[in-house]
Amino acid sequence: MYTQLEQRGMPQPPVNVSTLARMKQEGQPIACLTAYDASYAVLVDAAGTDLVLVGDSLGMVIQGHDTTVPVTVDDIVYHTRAVARGLRRAFLVADMPFMSYTSPGQALENSVRLMQEGGAMMIKLEGGEGQIDIVEHLARHDIPVCAHLGLKPQSVHKIGGFKVQGRDDQQAREMLASAERLQDAGADIVLLECVPNELGEEVTKRLHVPVIGIGAGPATDGQILVLYDVLDITQGRTPRFVRNFQEGHTSPLAALEAYVAAVRDRSYPAPEHCFS
Ligand code: KIV
Repeated sequence: MYTQLEQRGMPQPPVNVSTLARMKQEGQPIACLTAYDASYAVLVDAAGTDLVLVGDSLGMVIQGHDTTVPVTVDDIVYHTRAVARGLRRAFLVADMPFMSYTSPGQALENSVRLMQEGGAMMIKLEGGEGQIDIVEHLARHDIPVCAHLGLKPQSVHKIGGFKVQGRDDQQAREMLASAERLQDAGADIVLLECVPNELGEEVTKRLHVPVIGIGAGPATDGQILVLYDVLDITQGRTPRFVRNFQEGHTSPLAALEAYVAAVRDRSYPAPEHCFS
């Protein structure tokens, strides 16, 4: 039974938390992308992506909102279920939406929905000092957790826009301390969004769990981007860290393969995609 679960008839076994931990230890960059439906999940998986996130960015790129705030647990369950059907090898993470983890009990209840109804293997929450007890509670119940630090889009109305975080020393020290405390509380992965390279590097060095960056410089253990940015579907202004991988490629699959290759050989992110 267990052998079947590990192999699922694949040339390479499915990625799990141990695979990701080993990749960090061996210095092998982890390629991650978001996905929101089964068709793109098939392509993202075929391109060799290690980790797929059903992000609450779906509120912006799928639903057309200006922020991720309106996304509900039902929305994430629906999209996670679709993505799960398209994946074979990649590790599936689902986002806990705004106000779905205000207490340990509520967080546990909603994580269970994402895992049981959606098929997620890990949940991601936007964390900090206020979420330590929640991460501890989830870890105690063997729920794998990714803690999202740096720019936390669910706090956009509190911080006044989508801005680079951790630029001053005090903020950087606090973020480093929060990352360590979240790891100690049981987080299995830390995701860092929009922070200077130096902070991305420092957090990555200090933690023993994998650190995945988006606009966090080249030194993190892996990179993640929003699928629609990679494929140049997003119109208008995109963040500095975005690279259009569709350029020079004739199919979405070729573009996704180019993204995975660029993460693996560390040619992405280049200096023009970074904050320092
Ligand atoms: O919601 C999302 O897609 C995310 C990524 C930007 C990391 O959190």
